[in-house]
Amino acid sequence: MLSADKNRQLTEVGPGTPMGEVMRRHWHPVAAVDALAREPIQPVRLLGEDWVLFRDRSGAYGLVERQCAHRRADLAHGYVEDQGIRCHYHGWQFAPDGRCIAQPYEDTVDPARRLRAKASLKAGRVRALAGVLWAYVGPLPAPELPDWEPFHWPNGFVQIVFAEVPCNWLQAQENSIDPVHFEWMHANWGRRLAGRDGPPAPKHLQLAFEEFEHGFIYKRISEDTDANNPLWTVGRVCLWPHGFFLGDHFEWRVPVDDTTTLSVLWSYIRVPNESEPFVQTEIPSWTAPTRRPDGRWITSHVINQDIVAWVGQGAIADRTRETLGASDRGIAMIRRQYANDIEAVAAGRDPKGVMREPAANHAVPLPSDHRDFFRDGLPREQYLRHPKWQLLLQQFVFHAGQPDHVKRACEAALGVPQLDPAVVDL
Ligand code: FES
Ligand SMILES: [Fe+2]
Repeated sequence: MLSADKNRQLTEVGPGTPMGEVMRRHWHPVAAVDALAREPIQPVRLLGEDWVLFRDRSGAYGLVERQCAHRRADLAHGYVEDQGIRCHYHGWQFAPDGRCIAQPYEDTVDPARRLRAKASLKAGRVRALAGVLWAYVGPLPAPELPDWEPFHWPNGFVQIVFAEVPCNWLQAQENSIDPVHFEWMHANWGRRLAGRDGPPAPKHLQLAFEEFEHGFIYKRISEDTDANNPLWTVGRVCLWPHGFFLGDHFEWRVPVDDTTTLSVLWSYIRVPNESEPFVQTEIPSWTAPTRRPDGRWITSHVINQDIVAWVGQGAIADRTRETLGASDRGIAMIRRQYANDIEAVAAGRDPKGVMREPAANHAVPLPSDHRDFFRDGLPREQYLRHPKWQLLLQQFVFHAGQPDHVKRACEAALGVPQLDPAVVDL
């Protein structure tokens, strides 16, 4: 349970808020490379501020405040030039770093161009990595953009899925250190959703939570596993400050504003040996629906189920009225760490998870129990019989609504027809 003040402090992310200042020390996945290649301008809301993200005709990315410095037109309606973006209203042009580089009428009547210097836009930094466009809007110098090992795994079909979630980021991130929900929400509730009864999922018997350099790790033993199982020896990663790494895929919960989160999935599916070598020329991205046409929430896929839980906790979960138990020790640990991060930033130090050393930032390893499989793969027949991997090989279990062209590209890469599960049974 938290006080109302503490709850506000950990959840609010606007400019000048304590947690907002922490989040402004990190890079955030906000868009995808393929989307900007198709449509070079995309509005982005991040940490309670509005930006416009663009890829100019030279291929340079920019992130500038969304309203034009002239008379505040919306630069999301602008158009890109060889350098930067031009406002559609009176043609002022801004470089990717926010400098005003053209004011057509003013330039004509004042060859000294004195007004340009007064018309800069606030600009963030943008980097492309692993098909994702990452934004940094904090103080300079920007830290390293983490380059995780899975971004370098070969022979995989990668896709990026976005979903806008109408609730605060922290309750979504608390789900990254919540082992027991797999048993209840995904397994037991998932079965009921599928219209099945039958025996409940194996019960959790033991949990452990540990801190490490890049976040926290949770470990679990259930009735069907023991202390030799990778779920105990390796565990899963609550990646700092707003990610989740499950050994094969990443999820991030990006704070858009206090009551909106951008859920970002980076999914890697190993191709069978028969499909090697597979080199992906473009990583597809798509935006997943969260509701049915009748307004009801989609509950058929894993992250859809997570989203229903997060949204159900309220726009900002009321942590003054919760009852934490032994299953929530990890939740308490990460809240303490966010509070420490707030103190660190207030004292002028970096918060947890900020990397400053370029030499240490290449294919940074994370705990994963599946490295051999990702490196060596499996022959198709064996893969199709594997208790865990056959599920991912044959169907996209994470989000409902995978577009046909992504499904076809996945089938072509894997050489396996993709099923369309009504309800995932984990
Ligand atoms: S408002 Fe953008 S150029 Fe005038
Ligand atoms: Fe989940």
